[in-house]
Amino acid sequence: MGITRRKAMTIAGVGVAGIAGAAAGATAVLAADSEPTVPVSAASGAVPFHGDHQAGIVTPAQDRLHFVAFDVVTKDRDRLVSMLQDWTAAAARMTQGQDAGTIGAVNGIPEAPPDDTGEALDLPPAGLTLTIGFGPTLFRDASGVDRFGIAAKRPAALEELPKFPADALQPEISGGDLCVQACANDPQVAVHAIRNLARIGMGVVSVRWSQLGFGRTSSTSRDQVTPRNLFGFKDGTANLKAEDTALLDEHLWARAADGASWMDGGSYLVARKIRMTIETWDRTSLGEQEEIVGRAKGSGAPLGHQNEFDELDFTIKGPEGEPAIADVAHVKLAHHSQNSGARILRRGYNFVDGSDGLGRLNAGLFFISFQRDAHKQFVPIQLNLARHDVMNEYIRHVSSALFACPPGVKDGGDYWGRELFS
Ligand code: HEM
Repeated sequence: MGITRRKAMTIAGVGVAGIAGAAAGATAVLAADSEPTVPVSAASGAVPFHGDHQAGIVTPAQDRLHFVAFDVVTKDRDRLVSMLQDWTAAAARMTQGQDAGTIGAVNGIPEAPPDDTGEALDLPPAGLTLTIGFGPTLFRDASGVDRFGIAAKRPAALEELPKFPADALQPEISGGDLCVQACANDPQVAVHAIRNLARIGMGVVSVRWSQLGFGRTSSTSRDQVTPRNLFGFKDGTANLKAEDTALLDEHLWARAADGASWMDGGSYLVARKIRMTIETWDRTSLGEQEEIVGRAKGSGAPLGHQNEFDELDFTIKGPEGEPAIADVAHVKLAHHSQNSGARILRRGYNFVDGSDGLGRLNAGLFFISFQRDAHKQFVPIQLNLARHDVMNEYIRHVSSALFACPPGVKDGGDYWGRELFS
């Protein structure tokens, strides 16, 4: 037995967070009543919402994603701020396994629409994290208008990303004034959260585009097993990990001294929807696939090395004296030694959005990376990849977005964007 949000409302004085937190790492039993429920385990428990940094960045990557970008449709700054306050309160509740509103999905008067939509009623928190980001267009719209009096606060790091060779971007699934990344170990919990934020934001924001992801393609903690992307390769091996605190300080967290004090402890999020032509990939030989990536498909070990987590050594030679990891292998081109030391934290997801009407799956990688400054980290790496990566024959970048994710919400009196709008 465990806990559901329905019970969370009925167990007086006991927060789901506390119960789930205490249960983290092991399946726990909560015998509040005899209603059978889902067990509380590390995967189903709650991730703290308040803290110095937003959750959903170094949080061990959950299995499911619902990412949404919004356009702000009001010109009224006060309405926008008020919505951000409402969103923060709802996010604090939902991440702890509670209903979006204080009344709940089924406890209100019959005459009014409920303040929660109800589809997560019987589900545990499922590790839900909600991470907000502010896009460049929130500060100035396409015609240069300072929409909400915050243009002077736009950090240099939030300049629009440049166009990269071979980009095939679709504007309708790119950009956005705001984003929310919902990650959870249950897809319904992630979708419920985004749906309720969209509901609360009606009249202030409208959904510009959204993306579901069904399998993580990264690990962000050394405790996690490395998952596989849709090319069948382990993905996330050489990622920045939660345990690398010195590297995170250097490469992940923005500082006030970087130029924007409201971003102190925040991070910049890049999202790129990358379509994979998996049918062509599937007709490529195993040897060629491994050469393109630079790692063995089975073990994930770098070519010419023994184990998955061996440090890349580009001096190791193959049987014919050639470099074991080719100069154009993905892992070499993306490696920090080739990009002036730039590192990023990858947190992407696999997607399959049905088929494309031409007998192919509309599949790929919804790439997400976090970094202290995308222009100094993501951009040089992606330029190198866009120019030289042999993998480009099998992938196409179809959407792009950049967001500034502020630091964490400190406590119940704080809200998403408080320092930006103060
Ligand atoms: C569909 C597109 C992509 C696929 C299939 C892919 C796949 C992989 C795989 C299999 C690895 C090796 C395992 C690992 O260390 O995680 C890897 C590493 C890496 N990828 Fe990608 N990747 C893609 C796009 C990108 C993009 C757009 C970037 C950034 C601009 C990127 C940056 C990196 C980095 C930094 C590494 C680690 C390199 C190292 O230090 O060893 N990848 N990728």
